[in-house]
Amino acid sequence: MKIETDYLILGSGIAGLTVAIKLAEQFPDRKILIVTKSNADESNTKYAQGGIAVVIDGIDDDFEKHINDTLICGDGLCNREVVEMVVKKGPKRLKELIDWGTNFDLTAEGNLDLAKEGGHSNHRVVHHKDQTGREIERAILTKTHQKKNIEILDFHFAIDLITKSNSCFGAFVLDEKNDTIIPVYSRFTILATGGIGQVYKQTTNPLIATGDGIAMAIRANATIKEMEFIQFHPTALYMPKSTSTFLISEAVRGFGAYLKTKKGRRFLFDYDVRGELASRDIVSRSIETELKNSKNKCVYLDCTHLDILAFKNHFPTIYQNCLLSGIDVTKDWIPVIPTQHYLCGGILVDKNGQTSIENLFACGECSQTGLHGANRLASNSLLEALVYANQIFEFLKNNDKKGSFVKTIISDRFISNNKSLDKKIIHKFKEDLQNSMQQNAGIVRNDTDLKKTLEQLLLWKKQCLEMEYEYKLTKDFLELKNMITVSIPIVAFSLKRNENKGSFFKEGKTINLQF
Ligand code: FAD
Ligand code: SIN
Repeated sequence: MKIETDYLILGSGIAGLTVAIKLAEQFPDRKILIVTKSNADESNTKYAQGGIAVVIDGIDDDFEKHINDTLICGDGLCNREVVEMVVKKGPKRLKELIDWGTNFDLTAEGNLDLAKEGGHSNHRVVHHKDQTGREIERAILTKTHQKKNIEILDFHFAIDLITKSNSCFGAFVLDEKNDTIIPVYSRFTILATGGIGQVYKQTTNPLIATGDGIAMAIRANATIKEMEFIQFHPTALYMPKSTSTFLISEAVRGFGAYLKTKKGRRFLFDYDVRGELASRDIVSRSIETELKNSKNKCVYLDCTHLDILAFKNHFPTIYQNCLLSGIDVTKDWIPVIPTQHYLCGGILVDKNGQTSIENLFACGECSQTGLHGANRLASNSLLEALVYANQIFEFLKNNDKKGSFVKTIISDRFISNNKSLDKKIIHKFKEDLQNSMQQNAGIVRNDTDLKKTLEQLLLWKKQCLEMEYEYKLTKDFLELKNMITVSIPIVAFSLKRNENKGSFFKEGKTINLQF
């Protein structure tokens, strides 16, 4: 069996669905195929809490302020042209999302309610309570289902890109329900496969975030960039008996919550004049330092002084989740720790979302556009995904002649092998990888541990390659292989980097202070 399509989109988060809808509207006679490895709505997008950063309020805010906040946060490594483009195109993309049926919270006067987060000099985060991603995913998935020329294949796992002479012609896909591998030939392929969070033991990302798209791009020899810049969110709920890490949105600090030590000291002003609203890299590193010095396991978010009715209204999910964990935010402080959250680097793309491989595009968290530099400004990720999905669409609309089909035979390694690898072995492998990355490629790194980790990763890569020929290909195994594949550049690029910038900090290196 084989499939042919005009456009193949891998991933059904905000980035993938946005490109799909736009292409479907522009080319009603063409086929758009979305391949997604879990339920169609399962994605990092679905869990986004804080919102989308967009300049809406033309009185207090302006583009220049948002541009500057992004550049400061990125610590000198943002591409200014890209930052300007994304910020300035934001309002139009937000309007489109609203036109597609996404509901955002409004003020009593009927204007968009604007929240504040770390690193922002103004209130500019448009949100739907603390469930912004869930609402966006609902609206755009509904819109996608209405398009007759879009087909979604859920529980289909993209294994590898089909490439020849630096051009992409589709992807090999594992149909999990029927246990078959299908070549999907397409004129244009778009990677929108999201982040890498599962590489770490503690992450805010859901299980789908195993870096598959980036691993596929690496195997196809696409250029990847700045994988060492891993963003740690300062405030995930600390639950000592569980590795599950529920996010306590930065908007809670924007709403006025204090970060305190166990003894009740608001410690952040010791590190940055912006206190609780410094950028994430600074807040996470400060917490790490406090924990190291005090030997405590967590710090605390104090919301007890806030207007609790307004809090419950803005953050109903956080309020409920805390209650389920035995924390009443009206009386108790919330225990929090920094946790892996976002990958700033990824597959290098130009301003049209083109990768270094012809007819292969990338957008969303798997891509590296130059917007985030060394550290992403809060709520700039959904914005980037929207803008770059549109950039790809505009490019494909105006460059319609390129892209052709090439028939490639299924390579030997995909010929079915019936011997199954014990799931327990894969699970143990994954655990070892996650522990090692958490320990050695976290907020504070050092060359000795990075070197040892790289050696271990290269050994695991070799072992995986041997297993690939011996055993049947399963999603679990392929994810493990991808997690190892993306961990290698995270560690190798960390070894290479000699200057501490933004979210990257290596012991023994100089830090570039912002103030
Ligand atoms: P995703 O939404 O992750 O979608 C990736 C898709 O690819 C999924 O459908 C997945 O199943 C599919 N996929 C992956 N691999 C394969 C494969 N091999 N084959 C087939 N399909 C595959 N950003 C903000 O700007 N504002 C926020 O408030 C915010 N809050 C956040 C809160 C949390 C808890 C998290 C985890 C992230 C948050 N972020 C936020 C970041 C933001 O949500 C993500 O960066 C963004 O949603 C990524 O969108 P995406 O479309 O690129 O990827
Ligand atoms: C949050 O709500 O704190 C997450 C925002 C983001 O990741 O941009």
